[in-house]
Amino acid sequence: MADNNKEILTNAAGIPVPSNTVSKSVGKQGPLLLEDYTLLEKMAHFNRERIPERVVHAIGSGAYGTFTVTDDITQYTKAKLFSEVGKETEIFARFSTVAKSKGGSDIYRDLRGFAVKFYTEDGNWDMVGNNTPIFFMRDPMKFMDFIRSQKEHPKEHWRHDQMWWDFWSLTPESIHQVLWLMGDRGAPMGWRHMNGYGSHTFSLINDENERIWVKFHFITDQGNKFFTDEQWRKMQGIEPRWAAKDLYNAIEEGNYPSWTMKIQTMSDEQAQNFQWNPFDLTKVWPHADFPLQKVGKFELNRNPENYFAEVEQAAFSPGNVVPGISWSPDRMLQARIMSYADAHRHRLSVNYDTIPVNKPHATKANDPYRDGLMRTDDNKGGRINYNPSHEGYPQPDKRAEEPPYHASGMAARIELDTEDHYAQARMYYDMLNNDEKERLYNNIAGSLGKCSEQVIKDQMQLFRNVYPELADKVEKAISNTEPPKPEPKPATV
Ligand code: HEM
Repeated sequence: MADNNKEILTNAAGIPVPSNTVSKSVGKQGPLLLEDYTLLEKMAHFNRERIPERVVHAIGSGAYGTFTVTDDITQYTKAKLFSEVGKETEIFARFSTVAKSKGGSDIYRDLRGFAVKFYTEDGNWDMVGNNTPIFFMRDPMKFMDFIRSQKEHPKEHWRHDQMWWDFWSLTPESIHQVLWLMGDRGAPMGWRHMNGYGSHTFSLINDENERIWVKFHFITDQGNKFFTDEQWRKMQGIEPRWAAKDLYNAIEEGNYPSWTMKIQTMSDEQAQNFQWNPFDLTKVWPHADFPLQKVGKFELNRNPENYFAEVEQAAFSPGNVVPGISWSPDRMLQARIMSYADAHRHRLSVNYDTIPVNKPHATKANDPYRDGLMRTDDNKGGRINYNPSHEGYPQPDKRAEEPPYHASGMAARIELDTEDHYAQARMYYDMLNNDEKERLYNNIAGSLGKCSEQVIKDQMQLFRNVYPELADKVEKAISNTEPPKPEPKPATV
């Protein structure tokens, strides 16, 4: 270990400072001097140490690792990271909760973010998923309202179960995701014991420039484990950063967690005959019809040296897809293509992608961007900064060109509300065993039971549309729930 005491303390200009503990004053009882630059700079820097937190997914942990291809999928994709069995690619993963602000516990009931940056030779592929294969809605116009319903009340500034169920009870397409959230998967035992999913439909493009639709799955090799409501409520009082410590310590001890990557594929023809809209984020593709195919494995084997530099400043974007991987017409995904880089520019400045954790590691960014706040690299030096030029300029790559896809119809605001909300929620419910169902009723009751009569009534109708039994059991669990409802009502509901 370096002997820190042998180093000289300087300011940021490298100038040795005379003291780090005593400010400069007039005598023992006199005022401080404005010329105490050492003190002024130390205070001024401190005042600017916080950056905006992520508007969602503010609490999280990150680690580096390696992705290794185990099975050949080159018939589907020309992406270089999948080019041969045995190929290794460096990755950085960040796991997160969604709704709570920074400083909150990381083991409460919520979805979990599952973001993986693959540093490929064709640039960074960001797989920005969750621990569930579906979501609460399928139109991005509803996302901002949904998130506000999950965060603090505008007046009281604490989170209300009433607000969550208020939104869900009026959003029938949320029912499938609500059942996942209120079941065991809604409170995973830390980051190591949960699966990850790309959730949306994406596409893979091969050397012949043929496109196939795909879903990405990352199955935990540690096994899915969960906390009961009683356990996580107790545990977060004892160790609010349980998940962070669990992951960090496992890696420090050499007990590297790993996930197996699998895909489901769907041809265009299958997509047209699929029972559901294949681009609807509230739906899964049943495994029996679209079997999981193994692709590879990633392990996390290195903790970051500095949390702020590498985890807080990490910036993932669904816009970052590499040749051989692309998006689909999923409305939510289309909106996310824009949203993330916009958020990063707000949170980290326009040059967020030059921060070491975000820049490509296996290739060099040869982008046409110049200047801007926080430009700390060489800004492409003396290379000419316009195109065309007789001096020459980097050229586009045809490999990155995608095959065309068919789109037609009248441009309009087209509701998807007439499409089925319940069939897959029913399938999910049918897969649960009796213990899982029992916990589901009680988890729902503990939260929904605190809400207003109107909200309970509307939500019960959604449960009834899944199965009358589900509604009856939840009703019964609510009537048995202690302490008695309601919690103080939010001011406006
Ligand atoms: C974070 C927007 C849906 C997964 C974020 C951030 C924004 C955002 C603005 C913060 C980014 C930052 O400051 O770095 C949206 C919008 C959505 C949407 C507009 C829908 C229209 C989803 C869905 C998933 C998802 C469906 C998963 C399938 C994540 C994850 C993060 C995140 C994992 C945290 C990334 C990290 O670790 O830094 N989202 N989101 N989001 N979102 Fe979304």
